[in-house]
Amino acid sequence: MNALDLLEQLSNAFGPSSVEDDVRDLIVDVVKPLVDELRVDRMGNVIGTRRGRRDDVLLLDAHMDEVGFLVSYIEESGFLRLFPLGGWDARVLPGHALNVRTKDGTIVRGIVGTLPPHITAEAERSKAFALDDLFVDIGASTKDEVLALGIDTGTPVVPGYPFERINDNLVMGKAFDDRAGCTIATCALDALQGFDLDMTLAVSFTTSEELGLRGARTVANQVAPHVALALEGTTAVDVPGVHGARKLASMGKGPTVTIADRSAIASRQVVALLEDVAAKDNIPYQRKLPGGGGTDAAAIQPVGEGVLVGVISVPCRYIHSPLSMLFLPDLENAIRLTTGFVRSAASLL
Ligand code: CO
Repeated sequence: MNALDLLEQLSNAFGPSSVEDDVRDLIVDVVKPLVDELRVDRMGNVIGTRRGRRDDVLLLDAHMDEVGFLVSYIEESGFLRLFPLGGWDARVLPGHALNVRTKDGTIVRGIVGTLPPHITAEAERSKAFALDDLFVDIGASTKDEVLALGIDTGTPVVPGYPFERINDNLVMGKAFDDRAGCTIATCALDALQGFDLDMTLAVSFTTSEELGLRGARTVANQVAPHVALALEGTTAVDVPGVHGARKLASMGKGPTVTIADRSAIASRQVVALLEDVAAKDNIPYQRKLPGGGGTDAAAIQPVGEGVLVGVISVPCRYIHSPLSMLFLPDLENAIRLTTGFVRSAASLL
C-alpha cells in the first residue's frame, strides 16, 4: 500500500467532526479487504477486526474527523458566520480559503473576509479578535442567494487547500490531524497481511475526536481492548521562537512516543515496549515532551477493567490551522513502529 497516495486521498476528503461520511467511505473501501470483519456503529465509527490466536484484543485507533466549522448564521447581505468544530484559534483564519459543502454535496469556495489596512486604524490592528468577528464571503449578495445554493444553518465547512507535495520529503495538506493516523493504521494493517497474529487486532477509525474524544469512548466499550495505541498527527513546534519545554516535538526526527499529555498518561509498559521495538528495528523516534492536547487514548484507557494505552504520532507543523506540513519519512517510520509494536504486543499480556 502506498502511504503517500493514501494520505493524499484522505487529506483531501471532506470530513469535519460528525460529518465524516466521505472519509468513512474511503476507509471502508480500503480497509475491508484487509480484515475479517468490518462494521460501522451508530455513531459512525468504523471498526475492523482481524482474528488472532488469542481473544485478547489489541486496538489501533485513529480519528477520521478534521477541525472545521458549521455555518451558524447567514447575514442578509449573503455573508456566512461560523461555529467551530474543534479547537480553533481565530487568529489563524483571516484571508484563508474555505470549502463549504452544500446540501447536494457541491463544494462552494469561500474566503474568510478581512479589512484592508487602508481603512484599519493602528489601534484596531493590534487588537485580538474572536471567531464571532469573522465572516465568510462566498460571493453571494443576499441570504436568499445563499439558501438557493443549498447552504443553510448547520452546513459543514473545512479549510480549502488541496494536498501538495513540495519536495521529495515534504507535503502540505489541510487534514493531517488525523488523516496521518488513519494512514498509519491502514498501512500497518496492510503490512501485517500474512503475519500470524498472537492477539486479535481491532482497528478503529473514529468520529468526533475533536469534539471531546466522543467516538473512541463507544469504540472502547464495543471492542473491550487489553492494549490500545492511538495514532495521531501531532504538534511539531520546531519553529522560530519556541524553545525548551514548549517545543513538544520536531518535524523530521521520527514519530513521537507520548509520555503524557493533558488528557492521559501513557502506560509505562507500552512506552517501554515502543522504545524496545524502535531500538531493535532501528527506527528513529522521539519522546514527545509532556504537554499539548489530548487523544483518543484518554477515552479508551479507563474503559472496562482498564486498558494499557500508548500514542504514536507523526509530528506535523501548523495543525489546527488551514494548512499543515508533514515529513514523509516520519510517516513511514510511524508505520514501521506501529507494525513492530503489533508483532510484539502479546508480551504485554
Ligand atoms: Co488529532
